Amino acid sequence: MCGIVGYVGPRSVKDVVLNGLRKLEYRGYDSAGIAVLDDGKVKIVKAVGRLVNLEGKLESHPVAGRVGIGHTRWATHGRPSDDNAHPHSDCSGRFAIVHNGIIENYLALREELVAKGHQFVSETDTEVVAHLIEDVFNGSILDTMVTIGKRIRGAYALVVISKDDPDTIIVMRKASPVIVGLGNGENFVASGIPALLEYTRDVIVLDDGEMAVVRADSVECFNLEGQPIGEKETLHVTWDAQSAERGGYPHFMLKEIYEQPKAIHDTLLGRVSDDHQQVILPELKWPAGYAASIDRIHIVACGTAWHAGLVGKSVIERLARIPVEAEIGSEYRYANPIYTPGTLVVAVSQSGETADTLAAMRLAKENGLRVLAITNVVGSSVAREADEVIITQAGPEIAVASTKAYTTQLVTLYLLGVYLAQARGLLLDGDAREILEALSNLPQVAEQVLDAASQIQQFAIRYKDVEDTFFIGRGLDYAVAMEGALKLKEISYIHAEAYAAGELKHGTLALITEGVPVIALVTQTHLYDKTISNIREVAARGAYVLGLAWVGDADIHKTVDEVIYLPRTLPLLAPIASVIPLQLLAYYAASSRGNDVDKPRNLAKSVTVE
Ligand code: AGP
Repeated sequence: MCGIVGYVGPRSVKDVVLNGLRKLEYRGYDSAGIAVLDDGKVKIVKAVGRLVNLEGKLESHPVAGRVGIGHTRWATHGRPSDDNAHPHSDCSGRFAIVHNGIIENYLALREELVAKGHQFVSETDTEVVAHLIEDVFNGSILDTMVTIGKRIRGAYALVVISKDDPDTIIVMRKASPVIVGLGNGENFVASGIPALLEYTRDVIVLDDGEMAVVRADSVECFNLEGQPIGEKETLHVTWDAQSAERGGYPHFMLKEIYEQPKAIHDTLLGRVSDDHQQVILPELKWPAGYAASIDRIHIVACGTAWHAGLVGKSVIERLARIPVEAEIGSEYRYANPIYTPGTLVVAVSQSGETADTLAAMRLAKENGLRVLAITNVVGSSVAREADEVIITQAGPEIAVASTKAYTTQLVTLYLLGVYLAQARGLLLDGDAREILEALSNLPQVAEQVLDAASQIQQFAIRYKDVEDTFFIGRGLDYAVAMEGALKLKEISYIHAEAYAAGELKHGTLALITEGVPVIALVTQTHLYDKTISNIREVAARGAYVLGLAWVGDADIHKTVDEVIYLPRTLPLLAPIASVIPLQLLAYYAASSRGNDVDKPRNLAKSVTVE
């Protein structure tokens, strides 16, 4: 996802824009740039690579002014380069534009503009918009953007400055997030809240199909026809700047792993009755009888959120006896899914901006289905487009590798499972109480698991140079094994494969060689013996097996080479306990390899393009 920052006001535009872009670096990018209206001219400075490269260029190409926009680019069209970095301008240098998203019809537009004599310097879709603005400009930048909105197709947030309007920033939103930060005698524009926290906590979130004309002392909002839409709601952001900083940890990821007890606690807050008999979800403004009428659930998500959906599937099916499909967003959106009137779609997304998940939920909405969102970001696209939203209280998750978002998604799915079961009269109070008491105890369980960190760190350092690792388990353990494998792959770059333990003999066993590390999850007591026999299969072929099992398991050490003992909770809730050692394993493997743990290669925190 690209980072966008704009500013209009008395401060140093360069400082505000660069500070804001630094706060958005975590999203992953490959180049950066800034444009400032300086002495009646649009001055643009940009550089491939990290922000420090841009800062170096600004020393020899200084800019100063009252209005400016900046950008960190995550390439979608055109390789990372100075020319392809944003901002982009037109032939006359009259406008500057930054963009997040994809202009789907840019090639046709580019041909049309080239035929009219426009000269292009980049391979990007964004530059096409700059020349299109120049081509249709009629003296009013707002009217011009109305025309632009009719000509371009795709998903975008566009932010434009023009030397004809030296005190103005124009913002247009269609599917990619953009917010306006409200100041006193100054205003801000950004693609994400962390960029603004240093200056303001009051923000306006533009919705799809909206524009804003931002000046130092005013913010006017319009629809894409250019008609005023009146004052929009101002959101007050409670995150403070510190909570988005590292807080003393070497990396955001480690901080966020250790924040999980609090994140789990905060997500449970107010959602379990004091007597542990009832789940309370006031966000679900479902009509009476709706929960009982649900005859299937589609959970749609990507990556780690999809792995949470796999756990959610097992939990909801076990407790509420509703058939659940856990679907990958990028597959679901093109799979022509089968719906019934009683289908509920649950979109799970930390950022709430993942393009594939958004497209999947929009498909459900087009088919008249009810959509429940589980997301970590207030005001995100997923949050605003769903019928109901349950916000996980993980707080800002900065590291690309998702950790506390995953465990709080699990907690929310457990709550939903109990809620649905109770709404369908399937969970007698006594059973609900056992689960809800155990759920309420999970922050303590998570704290205790973190005590095993040094043992995990030693294992990780011992195996940091291996080529391949395998994660195996059955049932819920298999779902968590998939998350463990992804964590290790995405930040340590060690190849890892999760496998259903019972499936090894159907092929993967051929890959098990002397000394290869296998991480075996053994928490599902009803599958214990079967899993032990699968562990014996890999051990017999020389694997080094690290077992994750309950404290008090007196036999596991006879079968595995090393054990991480987990503090007891219900086997149903095991994923919350067993995933934390796997997060730590990935973290220590990656940090001992000297990798950029918070910003791993090729990845972005929020994948807002297809
Ligand atoms: C998680 O570690 C990954 N960075 C990635 O798989 C992520 O979970 C996925 O892109 C979905 O993101 P979302 O939860 O913001 O929708």
